[in-house]
Amino acid sequence: MKEISLHLLDIAQNSVAAQASRIVIKIEVTSWNNIRDLLPAEDKKSEDTYWLVCEVIDNGRGMDPDFAKQVTNPFATTRTTRDVGLGIPLLKLSAEMAGGGLVLESQPMKGTTVKAYFQVNNIDRIPLGDIASTFKILILGNPDINWIIEFSSFKDKFVLDTQEVKKELGEIPIINDDVLDWIERTVCEGIKVVFGGVLDEVR
Ligand SMILES: Nc1ncnc2c1ncn2[C@@H]1O[C@H](COP(=O)(O)OP(=O)(O)OP(=O)(O)O)[C@@H](O)[C@H]1O
Ligand SMILES: [Mg+2]
Repeated sequence: MKEISLHLLDIAQNSVAAQASRIVIKIEVTSWNNIRDLLPAEDKKSEDTYWLVCEVIDNGRGMDPDFAKQVTNPFATTRTTRDVGLGIPLLKLSAEMAGGGLVLESQPMKGTTVKAYFQVNNIDRIPLGDIASTFKILILGNPDINWIIEFSSFKDKFVLDTQEVKKELGEIPIINDDVLDWIERTVCEGIKVVFGGVLDEVR
């Protein structure tokens, strides 16, 4: 996949399928010391590298530990022992191509966190893509889920929580065209404020 937004759409759809009622999508640009625990020993010295960290956190049905292991390593096992699917492995591949990786944490009945990290300036790091319209599509398709989108960098922070938006709206449904357009514009603004001048693709 060529864009992070498409990966996030896929990963968030897994959370929807797992019957999550609350899904957090986090995108962060952070320095090395905040993710150093995830890095292999030889990378722990890359102190001057910035990392783009993307996370989808849900409270869905979760996975058994054995299944969770297979899901991130599909090529190490036979197809008959797992569901056919490539959403997670493809994100892992994209992240590894950009000098990073993917971590999956899951607890049955509690939820799942998928975290992918990319070297910001790696030549093979795919761009964010259209995060705002991806988010709009997710809300439109699943309006009853409490969606939270968070951006942060050393420059600024942005949060949009659909539960908060719904409170303000009162009787107006969140899937109202004007509301969705407002959400899209607000998310676009958030990306500019948080990632403008931080990520090359955001002007
Ligand atoms: N957030 C999640 N909560 C619970 N189970 C999950 C979650 N994400 C993935 N899974 C399980 O892992 C499997 C593999 O996910 P993956 O996204 O790699 O492929 P898929 O969703 O089955 O197919 P594809 O994404 O290619 O359409 C899913 O079928 C599901 O059983
Ligand atoms: Mg999937």
